[in-house]
Order: sequence, then C-alpha cells, then structure tokens
Amino acid sequence: MPHKIKTTVTFTFTTDSQQLIMTSLATFRKMAAKSMGTVGSQQQIRGFLSSSSGFDTIGVVGLGLMGHGICQVAAATGVHSNVVAFEKEQRFLDSGKDRIKKSIEKLVLKDRMTVEMADIALNSITWTTDMDALKDTDFIVEAVIENLDLKRDLYSSLGEICKPETIFASNTSSLSITEMSAFSGREDKFVGVHFFNPVQLMKLVEVIRTEKTDPAVFEKVYNWVEDIGKVPVRCGDTPGFIVNRLLVPSMMQALAMVDRKDATVKDIDISMQLGAGHPMGPVHLADYVGLDTCLFIVEGWVEKYPNEPAFIIPECLKEKVAAGDLGRKTGKGFYHWDGDKRGIPVA
Ligand code: 3HC
Repeated sequence: MPHKIKTTVTFTFTTDSQQLIMTSLATFRKMAAKSMGTVGSQQQIRGFLSSSSGFDTIGVVGLGLMGHGICQVAAATGVHSNVVAFEKEQRFLDSGKDRIKKSIEKLVLKDRMTVEMADIALNSITWTTDMDALKDTDFIVEAVIENLDLKRDLYSSLGEICKPETIFASNTSSLSITEMSAFSGREDKFVGVHFFNPVQLMKLVEVIRTEKTDPAVFEKVYNWVEDIGKVPVRCGDTPGFIVNRLLVPSMMQALAMVDRKDATVKDIDISMQLGAGHPMGPVHLADYVGLDTCLFIVEGWVEKYPNEPAFIIPECLKEKVAAGDLGRKTGKGFYHWDGDKRGIPVA
C-alpha cells in the first residue's frame, strides 16, 4: 500500500498528458526512494505491489460519482498495468477525468497520497469512448446509472466483445445481480462489488455472489478488493446487501420523522452524530448520497417487496425530488450546499 512520505511540493495537471508537473521532483524522488527502500521509479514501485487476484488489466465502465472513484482507487494501487476507463460520451469521460484529477490533487495536498502514486495512477489509466478497448481486460467493474434496460444492453454488448475469461462486476446498490448476470451470457463469472461514497475515503466493499457465481471467481474478486486496499465482506444477492439494508431504512425513518414534524432536520442529525456516533446524521447523509438515488432505491424495494415494513417512501423525500432539490449534487436538498460543504438546513 502507498507509503506516506511527508514533503512539500507544488504541482499542476496538464489537460492532455495527465502528467503531474512538479517542482522539486528530483528531491522528492530521492525522499521516496529512501522511504520505500527503492530508487522510486514507477516500475520499481509497481514491482513492489503485486496482485493476488491476478487481474493485470481492468476496466471501469461509467465514470460518474462512484465510477470515477473506483477507477481512481484501482489505478492508485499500482497493481494494474492498465485501467481502461470507459464512458459512452466524451463529455462524461472528460468530467470523470476532471473529478479524478481534482480528488488526487486534494489527496496529495493533504498528504494522503504520495506524488509518486498519483503519477502512477494517472499514467495507468487509458481514457476511452471505444468499448472495444475493454475486450482484453481481465475484470470489469460497471458503475453506470441504475437503469436495468441500459444495463441489459451494456452487459449483452460486453458479453460479446470481451474475452471469455473476463469477469464482470456491477457496483449496483439496489438492482438484482442475478438479473444482470443473465444479460451477460456468463453468469458464473458475474458478481457484485458495492463501494461506498466517497469511494476514495470509504474502506468497505461488499462482494456479492449469486447462486450461479463460480466460487473461484468470487474469491478472485474478493482478493482484488484487498489488492486495492479496501476491506471486503461477503454477501448474497439480497436487497440492499448488508449496509443499505440497514442504512437506507434508517434514513427513511429519519425522513418519516421530518414528515411527522417529530423533530427538526438539524436535531435529527445532531442526535445520530452525538448520540450514536455516526460520522453524518441520516438526513445529512441522504443529501450527501443524493435524494434521487435514495428515492430510486426505496421505490424499487417497495414495488418489489410490498410486504416488507422496513421499506417506506416518506412524503418529504418525494417532494424534494419532484422539486429538483436533490441534495449536494444540486446545491439544495434538506440543507443548502456549497460544493462539498454542507450549509444551513432549508427552512
Ligand atoms: N477525494 C479526495 N478528498 C475528498 C473526497 C474525495 N472523493 N471526498 C472528500 N474529500 C475530502 C473532503 O473534501 C475533506 O477535505 P477538507 O478537509 O479540505 O474539506 C476531507 O476529505 C475530509 O476528510 P476528513 O479526514 O476530515 O474526513 P471526515 O472525517 O470528515 O470524513 C467522510 C469524511 C468519510 C465522508 C465521513 O463524513 C463519513 O464517513 N461520512 C459517512 C459517509 C457514508 O456513510 N457513506 C456511505 C453512503 S451510502 C453509499 O454510498 C451506498 C450507496 O449505494 C447509496
């Protein structure tokens, strides 16, 4: 895993080469070499890190909120010779690239990532809008929007394009892995890998198996999660897997309290932060995740499991989404937002 090396550098990103242009680079390399017991070249650092999953080249399909983070984290480990980042349209590819660069810049400045690893990460990503570039990858993580029709088309195309050994994984938070695996024509080589937002900071990844997943495939993916520095847990293909099955109903209960005017948004959040030790209160978290995403998840569950009392749709959630107030991503939800910074509650 990346070594922490304290140093002061100034750097900037070029738009076309994805290279970090650094001042004091020579000095830094000497420090990195000393700290890592190597001369600090990219090849030598990569040689230090090996993949227990055996995935040399991987693909990430979809570079949105979750996909850009997955791509960045996988590339930053240095265990892959190539991370193919695919988006269907150039504008989405550009915005994913931009998000990755900004996140890396932040992590380096905060001393959470070395400049060397930042360099490795950016240099190992191949940016593409050509699906054929995924054909020789060993493993593909899909993180496109939660639309089953779109995923059906995507998986049937990937199933045709990719070599027979390529393993597919979906980062879906609420759709059935079993249903998706059927579209791919390779149900035994299909799993779920559910990351958490923000991917760069959250350590957990749920690894989901279906009844048809080959146990050896499951173990490879489980090992890959460890390769990229995350903590894997095993789960069957059940609604919400482990975390969302517990987390989303609790967010919905908080919003039901808002509906009933039992307590204010601010007091609900303070309570769960200071009384239960959660890093963010449930309403804050709903805004952070995206109110449209929360609504999509619970609507799907309520439709599919109408007799499950834990799955409810609060009125205030429907109203916010109908008004286009989706939380952090639109600058307003239950709170006002300034970029990533939460402001005061909306009156
Ligand atoms: N890349 C780089 N830096 C990032 C970043 C990213 N993607 N995201 C946040 N940061 C930065 C922040 O901007 C902040 O920087 P600042 O200090 O300059 O403002 C810094 O990281 C925060 O770092 P801290 O060490 O201060 O971290 P915190 O202790 O504040 O933790 C947190 C931040 C990890 C987000 C924490 O608040 C937390 O754990 N919140 C709960 C998140 C959660 O529950 N996520 C799961 C959501 S559910 C889900 O994803 C499932 C899906 O299916 C719906």
